[in-house]
Amino acid sequence: MALLNIVRLGHPAIRGGAEPVTPEELARQEIRKLIDDMIDTMRDADGVGIAAPQVDVNKQIIVIEVESDNPRYPERGNVPLTVIINPEILNPSREKELGWEGCLSIPGLRGVVPRHRALEVKGLDREGKPVHYHAEGFFARVIQHEVDHLNGNVYLDAMPDMQTLTHLQEFERYWLES
Ligand code: NI
Repeated sequence: MALLNIVRLGHPAIRGGAEPVTPEELARQEIRKLIDDMIDTMRDADGVGIAAPQVDVNKQIIVIEVESDNPRYPERGNVPLTVIINPEILNPSREKELGWEGCLSIPGLRGVVPRHRALEVKGLDREGKPVHYHAEGFFARVIQHEVDHLNGNVYLDAMPDMQTLTHLQEFERYWLES
């Protein structure tokens, strides 16, 4: 297990975007090791997702895992460990819904972001096999958040206004529904 350094907003990698992973790269041990390390890093930070630019790698790789006991996102249900390489979002629902987001690269803050309620995503798994998911709710939200990272965007860019932006401590004190 190896933990990678998570770069924060302000580091050029966060705005730099990401390139598709080629089949040759996927066959190499380095990419598999990178994915393993991204998983370890996400879990260590209690994150629900991480994108390669957040560990200063400009490749189109996202990792998502939501455990129902995650202290950062309680009661969000379960999304089993999901690795998507070169993800492409298809058929986003017209309907959007509001929800709270944070980001490992923007520590200590939360904000309300509108996201498509449902979508499909296709890409490759870590073995290079095609995958295609139908996602709704929080899973769909995390996919949109992570794919944004691959385009050099963060959740702040998707907020229609900054009125809900809050520090974590104030989030728990003033915003969290009891
Ligand atoms: Ni993020």
